[in-house]
Formats: sequence, structure tokens, C-alpha cells
Amino acid sequence: MTTGNPFDSFLSSIPPERVPSRSRLPNWRLVTSAAERAQGITHAHRPHPNRHRLALAVGGWWLVLKLRKRQNKLAKFGGMIGVGLLSTIFTLFTILASLGFATVHAPRGNDVVEVTVAGTAEQIARGESIAAAMCASCHSLNHDLPLSGNTNLLADIPMPLGDATPPNLTPAGRIGDWTDGEVQRLIREGTYPNGHRAVVMSSQSFRVFSQEDLDSVVAYLRSTPAVASEIPRKQALSALAYAFATLGMLPLKDQPDTNVPPPLVPKGPTIAYGEYVAAFADCAICHGDTLEGGAGGLLPKGPSLRGVIGWQAEDFVTAIRTGVTPGGEQLSDEMPWEAFRHFDDESLDALYKYVTSL
Ligand code: HEC
Ligand code: HEC
Repeated sequence: MTTGNPFDSFLSSIPPERVPSRSRLPNWRLVTSAAERAQGITHAHRPHPNRHRLALAVGGWWLVLKLRKRQNKLAKFGGMIGVGLLSTIFTLFTILASLGFATVHAPRGNDVVEVTVAGTAEQIARGESIAAAMCASCHSLNHDLPLSGNTNLLADIPMPLGDATPPNLTPAGRIGDWTDGEVQRLIREGTYPNGHRAVVMSSQSFRVFSQEDLDSVVAYLRSTPAVASEIPRKQALSALAYAFATLGMLPLKDQPDTNVPPPLVPKGPTIAYGEYVAAFADCAICHGDTLEGGAGGLLPKGPSLRGVIGWQAEDFVTAIRTGVTPGGEQLSDEMPWEAFRHFDDESLDALYKYVTSL
């Protein structure tokens, strides 16, 4: 994602080994469940974001008390106001970040629904097209299959929000040890086997997946060759990100009420199927709830899609497959057309019918 922000060039000028890694901080041990530890899984540890900040705040207040005894009025009041202000900021920030940490990692309730995916050729083919269109943009360095993992997605945002590294989803990755039901719950609900929350993973849009499509995705993941990944696995938001979570500035979605997927929308060139594809592809996240234009902010600001009403179906398919609109304009990579071009003809036809039905 290009943000055009001057901080970007500053950030990219820092050699990777100099970028402070939160994973070097002490771990907050409660995060990994006993069952995971028994399996030797340690990377679900999240460092507690606040221990240093809390120490600074307490030290600051101690200094304020010391300064009270000073004779020199300037040192006394100037120092007390200055240090007191800093300590107040640190204290408030620590409270905000701690509340966010508790919110983000609050235990989640829905049980895993155990399934055994048959892995038919049809499921694998369907799963492959979903994976190419919906998962590769994050879970692959070159945005293409195989899904062998990517680097920190939050590095592009000009704020220190921490690490969210899409893991390796080939059988060489950690999901190789998960049950099919555990993988499906993570995709649909963003819940790890130990009950903790995946934050950046797009589960809020994938919860519309039918059981059939979830099965297809898992069938594909299980069918691919294991590809080892060199990228270290890091998952830790920063204190700033947790403070944002408290302020409602992280798009945290609740778990769905039920662990049962919605009924299957039959695949075909219909408005209903187009609505289903638009829901899991989350066109609304950038183009707005009614696809009449998005609000922007941290996400790209998609224009209103009402203009597509004047396009032919072929124009729409060409725009998504090549990124060139009927007006000859090249769409930027803020519009994920390179991912969506992997949708089959029927899905794109259905999307066109849906978008032009609004
Ligand atoms: C917006 C980027 C994004 C997209 C799109 C995305 N993921 Fe993820 N995924 C992540 C990130 C980041 C994580 C790490 C947890 C977190 O921070 O949310 C993750 C974690 C996972 C995990 C947990 C794996 C592990 O070893 O811990 C699975 C399984 C997964 N994703 C499957 C999928 C599938 C299947 C799709 C497509 C249908 C998909 N993801 C699409 C970003 C994404
Ligand atoms: C991550 C944000 C994002 C998502 C998700 C997204 N879009 Fe876009 N889209 C954009 C942006 C930004 C543009 C404008 C790009 C430009 O003008 O270079 C755009 C442009 C378009 C255009 C061209 C509109 C025109 O009038 O030129 C179409 C058509 C479109 N998107 C359809 C879709 C559909 C359908 C989906 C869901 C399947 C979707 N988009 C999902 C960000 C997004």
C-alpha cells in the first residue's frame, strides 16, 4: 500500500535489523495455553506492551514527590509541572493500552466445529480460486500462490503499530498441526486454537463463507506442497495499537453469534451470488456500505461504484482482470484488482449483476 506519507521514506531508510522488535521484549506468559506449550508452540506469546511505560510513570510520580522538597522555586514548580505532565501522559497511555490489550485478547466463546474435509478435486479447484483471489494478497510475498507467508503488513503504516505477519499456510506452517475445524474457525471467526484473537486477519468478511466454501479453502490448503518460509513469525501489536483499540480506532469485530456458517448461496450468474462474493471480498470496506464511496482513513478511499451501471458486463470483467476501465484509466493497486482477477467468469458476472442492481 502506498500512503504517499513522508514517514514512509524515513521508515524505509532504517535498516531492518535496526527496527526495534517487540518480540525481544519479555513475553506475557499467559498468552500460550498449556496445551500449546505441551506441543512446543511458543510463538503465540504476546509481549505485554506496558511494563516499561508503567515503570516510567511510577518513576515520574516519585520524582514529582522529590521535587516538592526543593528550595529553588523554579526547579520546584517548573520540575513538578513538567515531570507531572509527562507522568500523567504516560499513566493515561498505559491505562488506554492495557484496556485495549484486555479487549483484544479477551477469551472468545464459540467452540470449534469438528469437520473432516474430503478434499475432492472439485473442492481443491474451488478453494484454489478463492485462495488466489482472497488470501494471496496478504499471505504471500508476491501476492500469488503458494501461500507461504508474508512480511509485516503494518510496516507500511507510518505509525508504530507493531507486527502482523501473515503466516505460512502451506502444510509446512503451523496449521499443518491444526484440525480442519480449527483452521475453519480461524478463517471464519479469527479465533486461534487457544481462544485468542487474530486481529488483522480478515475474518469479519470471511464469516459469510458457506460451509461448502470453507471446506474448499481447507481442501486447497491441505493439498498444496509444503513450502518452508524464511520469514520469522511475529505477531505482536504495539502499545499504541492497543491504545487505539480502546479508543475504538482499530476495526475489531466481535465473534459471530454462532459457529454455524450461513446457508449456501448457489453459485451462478445471479445478483444473490454476486452479493455473496461482494460480501467475502469486502468491497464495502473501501467503497462504503452501500458502495457509494468509502470514507478513506487508514484504508484506501474507493469511489462510488454507481458509475459501473453505465458499463457493459465485458467492460467490468476487463476492468477487474486488467485494471483498465472502459474510460482507458489504469486503476491503482489500492484497488485489489490483481487479486480479484483470479475470480472465475461466473463470479465476475455475478458481481457485475449485483453492483449494477444497486
Ligand atoms: C488483510 C490480510 C489478510 C487476508 C486477506 C487474509 N489473511 Fe489470514 N492472516 C492475516 C494475518 C495478519 C494473520 C496473523 C494473525 C493476525 O494478526 O490477524 C493471519 C492468520 C491466518 C491464519 C492463522 C495461521 C497461523 O499459523 O497462525 C490462517 C489459517 C489464515 N490467516 C487463513 C487465511 C485464509 C484462508 C485467507 C483467505 C480466505 C486469509 N487468511 C486471508 C492476514 C490476512
Ligand atoms: C482495499 C480497498 C478496495 C477494495 C476491497 C475494493 N476496491 Fe474497488 N477500488 C478501490 C480504489 C481505491 C479504487 C480507485 C482506484 C483508482 O482510481 O486508481 C477502486 C476502483 C474500483 C473500480 C473502478 C471504478 C471506476 O469508476 O473507475 C471498480 C469497478 C471497483 N473498484 C470494483 C470493486 C469491487 C467489485 C470490489 C469487491 C469485489 C472492490 N472494488 C473492492 C479500492 C478497493
